[in-house]
Amino acid sequence: LRIVVLVSGGGTNLQAIIDGVKDGIISNTEIAGVISNNRNAYALKRAEEHGIPSLCVSPKEFESREIFNEKFLEAVNAYEPDLIVLAGFLVVIPPAMIEKYRNRMINIHPSLIPSFCGKGYYGLKVHEAALARGVKVAGATVHFVDEGTDTGPIILQKAVEVEDGDTPEVLQRRVMEQAEWKILPRAIDLIANGKVMVEDGKVKMIQ
Ligand code: GRF
Repeated sequence: LRIVVLVSGGGTNLQAIIDGVKDGIISNTEIAGVISNNRNAYALKRAEEHGIPSLCVSPKEFESREIFNEKFLEAVNAYEPDLIVLAGFLVVIPPAMIEKYRNRMINIHPSLIPSFCGKGYYGLKVHEAALARGVKVAGATVHFVDEGTDTGPIILQKAVEVEDGDTPEVLQRRVMEQAEWKILPRAIDLIANGKVMVEDGKVKMIQ
């Protein structure tokens, strides 16, 4: 499975994928490229360190969003990916790309969807909202990307305990370490081995 990973920040989920491929947790998979919208994303350094082709395509560097959308999709297509992985990617995906890669583009969201998801829920904001609501479990979700925000078919989820005294930063770290970095590699491995299918908008696992 040829994958392209789209990143915007620290790239800890990208690192989990790199490590997963190296350790064999993710089989039959090659990271063909990493693309970021942010020139300073540490995720790009992680790609370079592992000899993975990387590219920065930033909306700021184009005259309009339409032109960015076109150039961005061209850059992704050039890697000829079988699967696109959004790993902490904060740019709205162009509709043409969602169409072209339907059920071949996945996203990791740091909550148990449908809680704390949708526009405005990203990064620490997700954990601030969870703590404000007083939830007892938090977690992460891997889902296929469709036209909505965090609304596509759910592939995997993993819950983590919320503990007394948790701050948003502490909870975010626990969700990343115990949930995100586990289910994103696992989802890629399942897809790479033909174990995942979508039926009536829901994911079915093939044994
Ligand atoms: C984190 O908030 C994570 O929960 C979400 O994107 C952010 C950055 O992740 N998926 P990463 O370290 O860049 O992978």
